[in-house]
Amino acid sequence: MSDATRLGFSGFAAPARGALVVFCDDKLTIGAATKRLLGRAAELVKRAAAADKFTGKPGSALELVAPAGLKVSRLIVLGVGKPNEMKAVDALKLGGKALGKVPQSAPEATIVADLPAGPMKAEQAADLALGAQLRAYSFERYKTKRQEGEEKPALAKITVAVGDLAAARKAWASRTAVEQGTTIARDLVNEPANVLYPEEFARRAAALKKLGVSVEVLDVKAMQKLGMNALLGVGQGSAHDSRLVVMRWNGGKAGTPPVAFIGKGVCFDTGGISIKPAGGMEDMKADMAGAACVVGLMHALATRKANVNVIGAIGLVENMPDGKAQRPGDIVKSMSGQTIEIINTDAEGRLVLADVLHYVNTRFKPKFMVNLATLTGAIIVALGQEYAGLFSNNDELSERLTKAGEETGERVWRMPLGPEYDKLIDSKFADVKNTGGRNAGSITAAQFLQRFVGKTAWAHLDIAGTGMGSPQTDINKSWGSGFGVRLLDRLVADHYEG
Ligand code: BES
Ligand code: MN
Ligand code: ZN
Repeated sequence: MSDATRLGFSGFAAPARGALVVFCDDKLTIGAATKRLLGRAAELVKRAAAADKFTGKPGSALELVAPAGLKVSRLIVLGVGKPNEMKAVDALKLGGKALGKVPQSAPEATIVADLPAGPMKAEQAADLALGAQLRAYSFERYKTKRQEGEEKPALAKITVAVGDLAAARKAWASRTAVEQGTTIARDLVNEPANVLYPEEFARRAAALKKLGVSVEVLDVKAMQKLGMNALLGVGQGSAHDSRLVVMRWNGGKAGTPPVAFIGKGVCFDTGGISIKPAGGMEDMKADMAGAACVVGLMHALATRKANVNVIGAIGLVENMPDGKAQRPGDIVKSMSGQTIEIINTDAEGRLVLADVLHYVNTRFKPKFMVNLATLTGAIIVALGQEYAGLFSNNDELSERLTKAGEETGERVWRMPLGPEYDKLIDSKFADVKNTGGRNAGSITAAQFLQRFVGKTAWAHLDIAGTGMGSPQTDINKSWGSGFGVRLLDRLVADHYEG
């Protein structure tokens, strides 16, 4: 895990050290609690604002170093505009923005959860705290020295000052679970592939046992027995054996059908024999971001003891070129019985998912399946890094995911499916082929998956753009974003618990 920044709450009182962040509107109004806390430093803020032409524009900040009357080394006044009705996602983003104004070298930061109109509610303050802590994440494990002018992140503690301490701490319980889950997902995505290969990934997933999650690891032999030749074909050129990990959290009523989350876990994607160009190939260590999200989500749900039965399943492989590697033209028989002609060995994620989706569907008969995958470059062309692509055979599930996306800021955009696209993957020699040509690359990939889900409600999230490559948001500066943990935790919380 990354060096953790601890988070705690305090009452409205001036801290003794570090950086202090407070909020003002575009008339430089500050809340009553903030005013009390600042004491005579409030006057200083007015003078500094005039001197610096600071007007409290949303997102802009005024900084006072060693402010007289306060013990902190730095006071930061952040403009919030005119926040009348602040939604959860706004409070989250504000926490991220606030922490973003704190210099890397500060050992402590205190954020005052008080708006010009009055103290933030406990739930809002907890969202603010979540945003701040997610923003503070950075992956430092392999940095042994610093470049010129590069500061070592030193933030050891974030304190959120609130009106109602007990209520804020209570609201924090579910958020800290989500924060930990997201951090786990980010760490997994950022980790290089020489360290994180399928077996090691499975070992890390097995750590969920400590939380009461049951974890089964299927090795190559077990998968051969099940007939998972689509998944196994992808991994056969690698020195690292493939694995399938099945995680179960039984927090719901015994016997009620589970919900299921499935992740693409290609620990490294060279493209195989259809090898990728060298430029940027290092990014393909993150081709397991879907699997990372599923592990992070299971951690979050188990930590907050979610009242629901959940399956998490991840297909772990490494896609390498080798004497034993799969070739274009090869035909494999998937666990479902459908035969697949391999056209391009770089379209490997769908092969892995085909077997995992079929396995989960037939073994567990879930209420729905949601899979996450860094599946296509084409989804980045279509949606950039703002939205994940959503493909689904079920309108209700789609709407719920879309709403959860708006609520959490992890947004998804529904893309079409249909028979006109499906026929593009009919094969000359087998039941289906693994690519559909240049057009509509993300859609034909989704059509391929759909052939393996039967009639079960299903959604596929293509997270190639949102899961990796430092998607820039207020609450993420990490290369691996941990996308999907908050989204799916919310989906479960809003619709499938209790
Ligand atoms: N893992 C890649 C998709 C990807 C690309 C993820 C860029 C993140 C960033 C996937 O396995 C892949 O190679 N897809 C091919 C499919 C093609 C061969 C039909 C692609 O997108 O080019
Ligand atoms: Mn590929
Ligand atoms: Zn891939």
